[in-house]
Amino acid sequence: MSAPNKDFDPVEVTPLRADELERVRDEAVAAVAAASTLAELKQVRIEHAGDRSPIALANREIGALPPQARKDAGQRIGQARGAINQALAARTAELEQLEEQRRLVEETVDVTLPTDRDPVGARHPITTIQETVADIFVAMGWEVAEGPEVEAEWLNFDALNLGPDHPARTMQDTFWVTPASAARVLRTHTSPVQARTMLTREPPIYVVVPGRVYRTDEADATHMPVFHQVEGLAIDKGLSMAHLKGTLDHFARAVYGTEMTTRFRPSYFPFTEPSAEVDLLCYVCHNDPAEVASCGTCRGEGWVEWGGCGVVNPRVLVACGVDPEVYSGFAFGMGLDRTITSRYDIADLRDLWDGDIRFTEPFGVGL
Ligand code: DAH
Repeated sequence: MSAPNKDFDPVEVTPLRADELERVRDEAVAAVAAASTLAELKQVRIEHAGDRSPIALANREIGALPPQARKDAGQRIGQARGAINQALAARTAELEQLEEQRRLVEETVDVTLPTDRDPVGARHPITTIQETVADIFVAMGWEVAEGPEVEAEWLNFDALNLGPDHPARTMQDTFWVTPASAARVLRTHTSPVQARTMLTREPPIYVVVPGRVYRTDEADATHMPVFHQVEGLAIDKGLSMAHLKGTLDHFARAVYGTEMTTRFRPSYFPFTEPSAEVDLLCYVCHNDPAEVASCGTCRGEGWVEWGGCGVVNPRVLVACGVDPEVYSGFAFGMGLDRTITSRYDIADLRDLWDGDIRFTEPFGVGL
């Protein structure tokens, strides 16, 4: 900026002349009107109202005027600048509205169009728990075995020391497959896979068997005629109840965390001797004296029933071609459905069977 110059004639400073300022203003206002987008308007603003615009340059010339001439010039510039800014503001508002309208039209979503996205779906919690259990045992070197759901009566009962008069063989519990002469049942437990395994391979045997089983229970909130079990069988030299306890403790901790423990209660199963019921420490109250009395999961017991187990009865070994003088083993079997319902607070067992995707979705993909 040049220094004030007393001899300067303001009329001769071109950018400050009234007609020149009018021209600058009119040009700017015309440019504003011609801008058809906000981006164009931005450019117009830089050119006609920015630091290097004619109006800004004119403003700078004021400093070079003698003091008595500054006011006049300042007023003229102010008016021209005001007109330009007003035009800019008005056009900005106009263009913003136009652009919004354009966007609304362009981005309209037709919610009635059919969707092209397939739902991802979710894995059923029973599938997930079966695979989790299988993984735990595979990690210990066990194998996963399977058997048919329509099973020979002999494998489901006789081979397992369930003699012809055993209550489990009456029509009450078992779905018999017709004709009766076929001697086939819908397997009432996964235990026949024990017999199948011993009959088809040589010890040592370490197998885990997840699967679907059937009993003639009416479907209600706590019973289903079809449910799931996981069976385990180990046959080797020198296996005892201690190995069984250690295996089940490991299994329980792998599923429920390192704080978990199990307890055995004496029981009876024809296929094991001795036999036990195995309980889990209640995974809700942990048998904590302050909480156990009001615990709804174990109903004040401190323990939750988990399954049955024991040392394989020598009669079963003999029926399945294993020499009880050389080998011994242990077995266990537990239900999976109740584990799921109590763990996730599912009030009605039938929810596991409805096939409603809204039920399975919260369990996620869980691969
Ligand atoms: N099969 C039994 C049931 O369905 C469960 C069971 C108990 C399996 C003891 C076993 C066992 O292998 O040793 O109730």
